[in-house]
Amino acid sequence: MRFDIATILPDAFTSYLNESIIKRAIDNKLIEVYIHDIRSFSENKHHKVDDIPFGGGAGMVMTPQPLYDCLTHIKTLNPGPVVYMTPQGRKFTQSKAEKLSLKSGLILLCGRYEGIDNRIRETLIDSELSIGDYVLTGGELAAMVILDSVARLIPNVLGKEESHLEDSFSKKLDRKKEYPHYTRPAEFKGKKVPEVLLSGNHKAIADWRKNHLK
Ligand code: ADE
Repeated sequence: MRFDIATILPDAFTSYLNESIIKRAIDNKLIEVYIHDIRSFSENKHHKVDDIPFGGGAGMVMTPQPLYDCLTHIKTLNPGPVVYMTPQGRKFTQSKAEKLSLKSGLILLCGRYEGIDNRIRETLIDSELSIGDYVLTGGELAAMVILDSVARLIPNVLGKEESHLEDSFSKKLDRKKEYPHYTRPAEFKGKKVPEVLLSGNHKAIADWRKNHLK
């Protein structure tokens, strides 16, 4: 799956994309991720990407020209929907992540300031997503959340065990429930792992887990 992310803070993605599972997924060509600097599309001699709002009011608005040129460029490369990160968007959920993970591409637009010029919203944006009822300083963290949760659902990204199939939020199990997890050592600061988990008795372990879903 191909992800294209439009942002005025491209460096914000560098360390995240170079760590752990996401890095391995990129190295193994399971996903492709391209970061586009909206500022580099600005025709303004100072590479300005924002301006004061018509009608007055607080804050700045992202101007249409760099957004238009950046998104139309990305759309020639990625067949996926253009999704705008905004607290006004529909709430992002695990089932939304599952639907997006079936697509061949996804274009994420990170907003900054008070938002983007509405003409871009009306013409180039397919949907708007919010990662929660709080306001971030920009859409970059939201884009990383969406990339992370969608990428891990793509076959082989998590490795052979496909542990997403056992997720507490997966359709295959109760959405909200998860059993307690333990690892070595079997005793830590006087607290012991439940005996049954050390027993090797798969039926007993499965029963214990079922009875301890929370
Ligand atoms: N940009 C600012 N706040 C946001 C949020 N909660 N979700 C998505 N994008 C945002």
